[in-house]
Amino acid sequence: SAQENKMVINADQGTQTISKHIYGQFSEHLGHCIYGGIWVGENSSIPNTRGIRNDVVEALKRINIPNLRWPGGCFADEYHWMDGIGPRENRPKMVNTHWGSVVEDNSFGTHEFLDLCEQLNCEPYICGNVGSGTVEEMSKWVEYITFDGESPMAKLRQQNGREKPWKVKFWGVGNENWGCGGNMKADYYADLYLRFSTYCRNYGENKLFKIAGGPNVDDYNWTETLMQKAGNRMNGVSLHYYVVPNDWKDKGSATQFDENEYYRTIGKAYFMQELVEKHSAVMDKYDPQKKIALMPDEWGAWYNVEPGTNPGFLFQQNTMRDAIIAGVTLNIFNQHCDRVKMSNIAQMVNVLQAMILTDNEKMVLTPTYWVFDLYKVHQEATMLPMILSSNKCENNGKVMDAVNSSASIDADGKMHITLVNIDLSNEQIVSCDIKGHRVSKVSGQILTSPQVNDHNTFDKPNTVKPSDFKGVKMDKQNLSVKLPPKSVVMLELE
Ligand code: AHR
Repeated sequence: SAQENKMVINADQGTQTISKHIYGQFSEHLGHCIYGGIWVGENSSIPNTRGIRNDVVEALKRINIPNLRWPGGCFADEYHWMDGIGPRENRPKMVNTHWGSVVEDNSFGTHEFLDLCEQLNCEPYICGNVGSGTVEEMSKWVEYITFDGESPMAKLRQQNGREKPWKVKFWGVGNENWGCGGNMKADYYADLYLRFSTYCRNYGENKLFKIAGGPNVDDYNWTETLMQKAGNRMNGVSLHYYVVPNDWKDKGSATQFDENEYYRTIGKAYFMQELVEKHSAVMDKYDPQKKIALMPDEWGAWYNVEPGTNPGFLFQQNTMRDAIIAGVTLNIFNQHCDRVKMSNIAQMVNVLQAMILTDNEKMVLTPTYWVFDLYKVHQEATMLPMILSSNKCENNGKVMDAVNSSASIDADGKMHITLVNIDLSNEQIVSCDIKGHRVSKVSGQILTSPQVNDHNTFDKPNTVKPSDFKGVKMDKQNLSVKLPPKSVVMLELE
């Protein structure tokens, strides 16, 4: 049945910019994210540019990736960057203890990563090693990459074929230091953050945006301790939260789930709103002007691995349910763009909630990829305040908004509204009043599918794909939008 929802958008009252960096990505040395998914080597029969897959780069360029986080994750606090420079045949091999105990041959290192970022035209976001590294090692990495002048590290870089330094802005000081990054207490990490970050220097024009390793989910004490002890010396603090349908032992299948499991999963995606608001409230005590960014730099759905695949490789399929999770989460980030200035979905290729899956030379784009494609219009646009009174979806006593949305206006005066209908069985009709902006034309795109567990495979890559949206009618300043069950819609208003 059809349900009515009301929405008002105040198109002349926007004050905050939606940072493009909310649409960031994450690539770890994990499973086939880097090796196979991105890096195939120069001698591969898969078409590549200096060892990096052309098909993957081309697909990613379409969604305007603003930044890419690397080399981990947990891998970051075990990574010694000097192992990954110089002639590839001389680079030492190591064990990737976190992720399947496979051999890491270091063929993808600093130069290769920064080449990838140049090919993608995105900003690098490098995460340094606090857990098992030294202050000297991290400090030298910054010098190696960014120093233009005479110094031991600049000389080494030049010997390795890169004359001029790169520019790197986003610099993470450790990852999950409450867990795989050293099992530290908040107090101890805050001290280490101060010490390590002191020696991450700004060379010449290069200004680092320093990011402290933030809390796990709802550990508000971690945020409080960091802000209190080190808030004046950081630009951002990360936040990690994964949507796990069941529990960490048996997370649930990526493709086989019933209605209850679906709604439980979406309820957990909605929890991001509470996390962002409560961590922001803690930050407000120390930084009322919101100068320090909250950066959920690992988020997304985490399921059991696909049957028959290496449990350490975190390879999972991606369905229409994942598209809903991405749509809801990105709307939450847009709505909170005064504090949330960056986010990184985990992960870009072949790992967790990926944009792209590959199998040797084959490649497929996931429903999540298409959500990033629909939502890219929000990047650097002005967020528009909205009032949305949504119908509720109820499942097992849990009540959730059926409709979730965000809106923005870009530099050319085009307005965009993204809407998600999480309801599996009801169409949601949204009556939307646009105030403060004359609308003459509306068009849109929709991502939906007959079954919520529909997904794209190498044999059937186009099962879930956006199409033109016909369900919107305009009457002066009012839009009537018919959202089919389980759909993500993007409207463009001129
Ligand atoms: O994204 C996979 C892993 O999840 C990351 O390496 C780690 O930071 C987190 O626990």
